[in-house]
Amino acid sequence: MPASALMNVMIGAARKAGRSLARDFGEVEHLQVSVKGPANFVTAADLRAEEIIFAELSRARPGYGFLMEERGEIKGPDGTHRWIVDPLDGTTNFLHSIPIFAISIALERDGELVAGLIYNPVMNETFTAEKGQGAFLNDKRIRVAARTELATSVIGTGIPHSGRPGHERFLGEVETVMGTSAGVRRTGSAALDLAWTAAGRFDGFWENNLHPWDMAAGIVMVKEAGGYVTDTNGKDKIFETGGIVAGNETIHLKLLKLLKAANASAASPAKAG
Ligand code: IPD
Ligand code: CA
Ligand code: CA
Ligand code: CA
Repeated sequence: MPASALMNVMIGAARKAGRSLARDFGEVEHLQVSVKGPANFVTAADLRAEEIIFAELSRARPGYGFLMEERGEIKGPDGTHRWIVDPLDGTTNFLHSIPIFAISIALERDGELVAGLIYNPVMNETFTAEKGQGAFLNDKRIRVAARTELATSVIGTGIPHSGRPGHERFLGEVETVMGTSAGVRRTGSAALDLAWTAAGRFDGFWENNLHPWDMAAGIVMVKEAGGYVTDTNGKDKIFETGGIVAGNETIHLKLLKLLKAANASAASPAKAG
């Protein structure tokens, strides 16, 4: 299916920023790095990519608002549209020359996510989705995996650094999911975790304490690939809570139940005592 005018704008911005990231990735040892918090880095590569995406999207759709990881919220005169952008998801991988990172761009219209793009320039993989139009990897239609048993499922997740909120909770959850599934994987890019779930590489994904820019494009992607995405209570408060659970209908439900059980047993007096 040919890409829409909107998706061509998103692809154009992502490819241009992707060329900048690829150049910086080749010279990563010379990059300027600042530390925002525990295991939380920002590099000149993040900032350069964000600048390009901001310029390209502003030129193509003047007046739209932005929510970007490094620049924060930028209101536009157009009150109905907002781009949600992570210019480099997987900065820690990037800094270690691990080629698993992505640009994530989503568009919100009247508060509803209507389009998402996740681009890994090193693997040359462009994941795109628009509401009602399906999800694609480099023009090929993708769907969530069909497996329904956790015992044969591979589940993606992200590990909050020990200095960040949610670390203890995660340890209980991952122990339970590891004991129940065929394996747990951590790529270091939540955007790619969701894109890979949409493409059926992962059967499911969960993580806590994420930001809207980590998840926005991936939410559209998983839904358009036929999957289910909610917060960790099975509700739609994903951005508010920062928690996300994704998969096909069955795996999504099983993961929700499993995480609930893990947290209940962690909180029970028997375990605590
Ligand atoms: C990070 C990645 C990672 C997730 C972290 C995020 P960044 O984003 O998505 O997978 O576990 O919580 O902060 O900082 O590399 O854009
Ligand atoms: Ca970051
Ligand atoms: Ca991110
Ligand atoms: Ca980032």
